[in-house]
Amino acid sequence: MQKINQTAANERMLQEVLAGLINPQKLISSKYFYDKRGSQLFEEICSLDEYYLTDAELQIMEENIREITEYLGPGIELIELGSGSSTKTRLLLDHLSDISAYIPIDISGDFLSETTDRLRADYPELNVRPVVADYTRQVNLPLQPGGNKRVIYFPGSTIGNFDPEEAKAFLDRLSKLLGENDGLLIGVDLIKDREILHNAYNDSKGVTAEFNKNLLVRLNRELDADFDPDQFRHLAFFNDEESRIEMHLESLKDQVIRIGGREILFRRGETIHTENSCKYSLESFTRLVSDHYSVQKVWTDQEDLFSVQYLEFLTFPG
Ligand code: AVJ
Repeated sequence: MQKINQTAANERMLQEVLAGLINPQKLISSKYFYDKRGSQLFEEICSLDEYYLTDAELQIMEENIREITEYLGPGIELIELGSGSSTKTRLLLDHLSDISAYIPIDISGDFLSETTDRLRADYPELNVRPVVADYTRQVNLPLQPGGNKRVIYFPGSTIGNFDPEEAKAFLDRLSKLLGENDGLLIGVDLIKDREILHNAYNDSKGVTAEFNKNLLVRLNRELDADFDPDQFRHLAFFNDEESRIEMHLESLKDQVIRIGGREILFRRGETIHTENSCKYSLESFTRLVSDHYSVQKVWTDQEDLFSVQYLEFLTFPG
C-alpha cells in the first residue's frame, strides 16, 4: 500500500485548518470529516431513510447496471475516488467483465485497508491496487502504461463538496488521467424539494450532527486542540442562491480555543463552515463539465432525486 508520510500529512492538515480558522468566515474542509470514526458515521448516514441519496443512487445502479456496464465496456481499468466499500462498487465489479485493475483511492488509510481486505477476500481474481491519497490535491497513480480503457468512478455526489468553480478545476485535473475513449461515471445529486433536502442533512437521529461534530473530536486528537463539542451546535440549511446545502458548527458561547499553539476566539453564534453540498440541475451540470467532457448518458431514479452520468473525455476540447 502506498502511504503518505504521516507527520507531513499532519502538518499540512494543521496549516490548512489554521488558515481556515483565521478567515473572517471560519471554515474547515469537509475532507477532514473522514477519519475512521467519521467514515463510520458517514456509512451510518447512508443507511438513514432521510438521506435519500444512497437509496436513489443504488436504485439507479441496480435498474440500469446492464446498460451502465455496456457504456463502460470490458477490460477496463476502474479507478474509484472514495472508499470503495459500497454495494454500488460491488455491483459494478460483479457485472463488468475482465477488469484489468481496480484502483480505489481514499484519504482514510484505515478505512481503505479494511475495505480492500474485504474486497480481496470476495474477489480473489481481481487486481486491486489501493492508493491512500488526498485526491482533491493531486492524483499520482500506479498506472499500468498503455492499452486499457480507463474509467474513473466518482459516486455519491461527492463532486458536490466542491463549489462549481472548484468542481470545474477538479474535473479538469482528473481529465489529465484520461485519454481517448476514457470516461467518468459520476453520481450527481439534483435540486429538489427544500424539505427533502433539509431533512437529509438534519436527520432525526442526530447522526449528521455527530458526523459534523466528530470533526472537532478529530482536531482535538490529531492537532492537540481543545474544542468542547458540547459547546457547538450542528447547523445545516439550503442556500438557495448558491444551490447548496451548507453545514456549519455554531459556537454556543464566546470562547477561546487552543490549537497548534494558537488561540482562536469564537463569538457566540459564530460558525465554522464545514461543508458545501452543491445540488445541480441536469442542465447546469452539463454546462459545468462541457469544457472537457461530453455527457453520453444520464440515468435518474423514478423521483428524479439523483442522477448517475457517464461522461466521455473530450480529446479535442470544444
Ligand atoms: C459524501 C459529500 C456526498 O454531501 O451529502 C452527508 C456528505 N454530509 N451528510 C453529502 C454528507 C452530510 C455527502 N457527500
